[in-house]
Amino acid sequence: MRIFSGIQPTGVLHLGNYFGAIRQWVELQEGNECIYCIVDYHALTNEDTEPDELRRARRELALDLIACGIDPERTILFVQSDVPEHTELCWILGCVTSYGDLTRMTQFKQKAAEREFVNGGLFYYPVLQAADILLYLADHVPVGEDQLQHLELARRIARRFNYRFGRLFPEPQPILGKGARIMSLADPDRKMSKSYGPEHYVGLMEPEDSIRKKIRSAVTDIGLTPGQEMSPGVANLFTILELVAPQEVVEELRREHREGKLLYKHLKEVLYEHLMKTLAPIRERRAELAAREDIDEVLAAGADRARKIAREVLGEARARVGLD
Ligand code: TYM
Repeated sequence: MRIFSGIQPTGVLHLGNYFGAIRQWVELQEGNECIYCIVDYHALTNEDTEPDELRRARRELALDLIACGIDPERTILFVQSDVPEHTELCWILGCVTSYGDLTRMTQFKQKAAEREFVNGGLFYYPVLQAADILLYLADHVPVGEDQLQHLELARRIARRFNYRFGRLFPEPQPILGKGARIMSLADPDRKMSKSYGPEHYVGLMEPEDSIRKKIRSAVTDIGLTPGQEMSPGVANLFTILELVAPQEVVEELRREHREGKLLYKHLKEVLYEHLMKTLAPIRERRAELAAREDIDEVLAAGADRARKIAREVLGEARARVGLD
């Protein structure tokens, strides 16, 4: 399988990114051809992106990903703007994309509702995302649940292009993991995200006491009676626990919950311990990598490899539509 996925350089890698996507990215490297992209063109749609911060965030994210287990020798790891073919394919695909479909994108609607100035890039964001994937003829895309609608659109775009100009693009399928939907600890009705503020996410590389504090103050519910349904906050803590703790630990706590005996303070302590155990090797590797000065070269080499594929596919797409 050829796997493609992307992540925005927003300055913080959080548990949602890790359990929703990156952990699958790492596992999929075994036996597949993987291409992972730091999508800095996409990050420009966030109005508050400062140029220097963007330069820094790209490198930091690359190091974070390597610390998580992405192997830039085996896998193509690169920065989107190093391969400008993405934007050209985006334009071609935009011309087979329905305006109506774009207006129905829930992420666009949500973000547009929160802003006074809505830039055109935000509207076109999903077309660029489709171009990212189709440029490599990728058939599988490991993502969190929040990206499913964008992937559905990518398939519609591929279908429309293929129908009009002859089959070129596979219709990319999502790969969803167990952590596809991690919610904010402070507000379990919203997804974990950097955009709502620091209390709404837990960073992978955050200081230990800060992580402990965020878990301790996670929203649960008041009191527990036997057989009571799990509130969203408690269910979210169990979702994360299942990703980091052995099955018997989870089962025991679930039983206590069913019997109305579970102390949330205890649940949070167990979660904190197992989470830190899972993150420890990543955090250690990240600290070692901090001194790595060749990250620009690593990314440049990734871009060279990506560009070889991208040039060929874009060339074919140009020819199909008559731009050759
Ligand atoms: P981004 O940068 O917001 O997130 C990167 C990945 O993390 C997942 N994710 C989550 N998963 C579970 N729970 C959460 N709370 C959570 N928050 C984030 C996302 O689903 C994503 O998989 N548009 C994309 C980037 C992109 C892309 C692509 C992805 C650009 N081109 C092509 C796949 C293929 C985005 O903003 O992800």
